[in-house]
Amino acid sequence: MARVVVARELPAEAMRLLEPRAELEVNRGEEWSKEELMARMREAAALICQLTQKVDAEALSAGPKLRVVANVAVGYDNIDVAAATARGIAVTNTPGVLDDSTADFTWALLLAVARRVVEGDRLVRSGEWKGWDLMLMLGADVHGKTLGIFGMGRIGRKVTERARGFGMHVLYQSRRRLASEEERALGVEWAEKERLLREADFVTLHVPLNAETRHFIGARELALVKPTAYLINAARGPVVDEAALAAALEEKRIAGAALDVFEEEPRVHPRLLTLPNVVLAPHMASASVETRTRMAVMAAENVVAVLEGKRPENLVNAEAWERLRLGTGD
Ligand code: GLV
Repeated sequence: MARVVVARELPAEAMRLLEPRAELEVNRGEEWSKEELMARMREAAALICQLTQKVDAEALSAGPKLRVVANVAVGYDNIDVAAATARGIAVTNTPGVLDDSTADFTWALLLAVARRVVEGDRLVRSGEWKGWDLMLMLGADVHGKTLGIFGMGRIGRKVTERARGFGMHVLYQSRRRLASEEERALGVEWAEKERLLREADFVTLHVPLNAETRHFIGARELALVKPTAYLINAARGPVVDEAALAAALEEKRIAGAALDVFEEEPRVHPRLLTLPNVVLAPHMASASVETRTRMAVMAAENVVAVLEGKRPENLVNAEAWERLRLGTGD
């Protein structure tokens, strides 16, 4: 049987798919270092990994029999896809299944920061709360405001759908502009980056991390937003320049931020930790039992497909597929 390396244990549903079809090497402990991963790659036909596992060119070179790297995430910036393609190694991700959960959580973040939910929780727990007060914990209304969305892919659209319930005006910017019928159907208006930043009351990020989007929001962008605006990031940490964001928050050039992702997880910029108007979450936007299970099953299905010589459903690098010389997997 083919050997499949599972770099972090998966839910039972996903393991059940793999167990009869492969010889599994499963990490049930702490995350492997690159060296530990490489030591296990020698005989591996497949690697299932999570977004915290860096799979660079060197790690890939340790797996001469490797045919597929299945990421249990929609983003795959942790994998050197170009190096995988050059080696004829398929890379797969888990698109679609986490869009709704991620959009739900984006709204949880947005509402939490605008309406000061976490600050309120802290006050109640502290024992300092003196009772109802007309002027206590005043936040910003969400309904009827302008939402600015960067990235109108699957998740951006789900965030947009939810904005309707709040009667919001939605501006968006994306790699590609939608067709006008689609814009009408979604109720969104295209805006250049600068206009979106100047007009939005809430700016939310749904772009992948790549060379173009690294520090997509930095000091220059933060200088354009309204002092009453909020930034929400449930995409990837390095899309925002954290130091610039901390400075903008401290100088009250922006009202608040809600962040699910950070530049160097699990490290958080120390100045962000001290600011009350920042909601911090530990990269959990897709973390519902149902969605995380579906993601793991999807990754396992992608691996099973490759082992059976079939093109995996969620192939990221079509070119690698052309190069793959598929065996039967045993
Ligand atoms: C989570 O961040 C993912 O990319 O799936």
